[in-house]
Amino acid sequence: MNDIVRRPMCEADLAAVLQIERDANRFPWSKQNFADCLGDNYQSFVFDASGSLVGYLILQHILDEVHLLNICVQHQHQGKGIGRYMLDQMIREAQQRQVNLIVLEVRRSNHRAQQLYIQAGFNEMSIRRGYYPAEQGREDAVLMGMDLSLSRMFVD
Ligand SMILES: CC(C)(COP(=O)(O)OP(=O)(O)OC[C@H]1O[C@@H](n2cnc3c(N)ncnc32)[C@H](O)[C@@H]1OP(=O)(O)O)[C@@H](O)C(=O)NCCC(=O)NCCS
Repeated sequence: MNDIVRRPMCEADLAAVLQIERDANRFPWSKQNFADCLGDNYQSFVFDASGSLVGYLILQHILDEVHLLNICVQHQHQGKGIGRYMLDQMIREAQQRQVNLIVLEVRRSNHRAQQLYIQAGFNEMSIRRGYYPAEQGREDAVLMGMDLSLSRMFVD
């Protein structure tokens, strides 16, 4: 992972980000969704390997919580540990910032992402019924969380 550099997402990244999003998702975010996340209320990062983007991650901080809104690895680079690398970096920083809870939603059918989150230390918290659009009707989201306040209790 030494050649991968994280930097804030900027407007010039949007075309490449959108391409990665569309290649990796059946129901991709729109360009406007990403543009909105360049605003002050979000933290949006791209991961750059020698000038080409291999992934991105979008967060929203609300008080002592972080909501992971989007994480995606360019489809040809998936399965090489990049997603875990991006996630672990985010978790470490949240710990340093005294964040108490990280939450995310993931499609019930997205076992790959769920496996990634479980291995990184997330737990299933609840189900949000019909949260996502689907080919036929709607699909449930699994709400997953990582309680960082618990881990701090044992360190302090
Ligand atoms: C989910 C995603 C971010 C994972 O990133 P990645 O770089 O492919 O994942 P990694 O290579 O870091 O793998 C981390 C873990 O994910 C799981 N994983 C990765 N590829 C997998 C596969 N083909 N099948 C099952 N689990 C898999 C494994 O648990 C793996 O850990 P391991 O290698 O120790 O077994 C990436 O696949 C992606 O962008 N998918 C499309 C967008 C998406 O679904 N985003 C999540 C929305 S909630």
